[in-house]
Amino acid sequence: MIRVQSKVNLKPYNTFGLAVTADYFVEVFTENDFIELLDHGIYKTNPHLIIGGGSNILLCTDFKGLVIKNSITGIHSNKSSEDKIIVKVGAGEVWHHLVQYTLEQGWSGLENLSLIPGCVGASPMQNIGAYGVEIKDCFYELEALHVKTGQKRIFSKADCLFGYRESIFKQAEKGNYFITNVSFILDGKPKINTSYGSIKEELTQMGINHPSIKDVAQAVVNIRQSKLPDPKIIGNAGSFFKNPEVSAEVYQTLKATHENLVAYLLPSGKYKLAAGWLIEACGLKGYEQNGAAVHAKQALVLINKNNATGQSIFDLSTVVKKTVQDKFGVTLEREVNIIP
Ligand code: FAD
Ligand code: EPU
Repeated sequence: MIRVQSKVNLKPYNTFGLAVTADYFVEVFTENDFIELLDHGIYKTNPHLIIGGGSNILLCTDFKGLVIKNSITGIHSNKSSEDKIIVKVGAGEVWHHLVQYTLEQGWSGLENLSLIPGCVGASPMQNIGAYGVEIKDCFYELEALHVKTGQKRIFSKADCLFGYRESIFKQAEKGNYFITNVSFILDGKPKINTSYGSIKEELTQMGINHPSIKDVAQAVVNIRQSKLPDPKIIGNAGSFFKNPEVSAEVYQTLKATHENLVAYLLPSGKYKLAAGWLIEACGLKGYEQNGAAVHAKQALVLINKNNATGQSIFDLSTVVKKTVQDKFGVTLEREVNIIP
């Protein structure tokens, strides 16, 4: 039985900690709850915003509509072959709890993605990634209900059109589906991935030569805790911008004048620039206006430093974008979902 509430403070539901109000709010615990919601007058007559953990949204102001929090839980696993396990997970499960659960079972695939905030249902939205792994590397399929008809659709990996911080759910199917569960295909035999330089360095610091998947997870947790702010203490949504991709020519030109420029060569021949470096090189690290600030330990993260409003965080992002554009001629794209 669903319960639609009125005038709900969203502060506990977004990691920027913004105390904006939703006209209406409902928590969905089962697929049937969502089907029931489709017939509700408030659902039919208001705009919707689906949320999980609220760790990748910026609520610029009060939400004039219905916020739907996905709280569908459950973890079910199946052996698909001798060494492969398929794990089907409710969209409302907390991501890091899933990672810990798989580590306990000795299944590998998600360890490099430890400590990413938010829920499982949002993980395919931007194909979450960190420390050399993206969920597309162990994604199997997902189930979703159409927001108008309630019809169930299974999206295969190919259907999702995953890219760097991209999927079909941010493009052609934006806003069209309520993701109910996601399945991953994991390895029963550990496959260690320490390709990301800082993991190797951290493992060395930890005195570990032959890491287990739990060691890799711990190394990732250590690195993350050393530079990313904990949303429980400082409001933020992780990287605010994507790392921009530029042509080899643009990269060469920039490198000629900025020899410390941090960039990675992509298989396509393009270069991915470290947006955090670009922002820091503009002198913006630690810059603050109207309570919103560029994080002093990681310039790609914007924080709610001192009772900022959603609008002031958005305005700061505009200043950052313009400053980087003017100095380097590079356009930054916001990674966080902006809710106007
Ligand atoms: P929300 O913020 O609630 O929603 C995000 C988007 O998905 C919204 O557009 C929402 O409408 C949609 N959505 C959510 N659930 C559903 C659903 N069930 N069905 C349909 N649409 C849905 N991200 C990374 O990729 N890598 C990182 O390393 C990383 N580090 C972070 C570190 C910090 C400190 C923070 C605060 C964030 C970080 N993030 C990172 C961003 C964020 O954690 C991820 O994007 C995460 O997947 C968001 O999950 P969520 O449940 O909080 O999504
Ligand atoms: N850098 C600076 N100054 C800064 C920040 C970064 O010079 O203030 C340079 C450093 O040289 C550093 C390089 O940029 O070596 C890369 O920094 P980092 O390893 O912290 O990673 P990132 O590119 O800033 C990306 C993801 C993160 C993910 C990490 C680890 C994006 C947009 N961000 O950050 O994801 O955790 O790599 O894989 O791709 C997120 O999406 O919210 C997020 C935190």
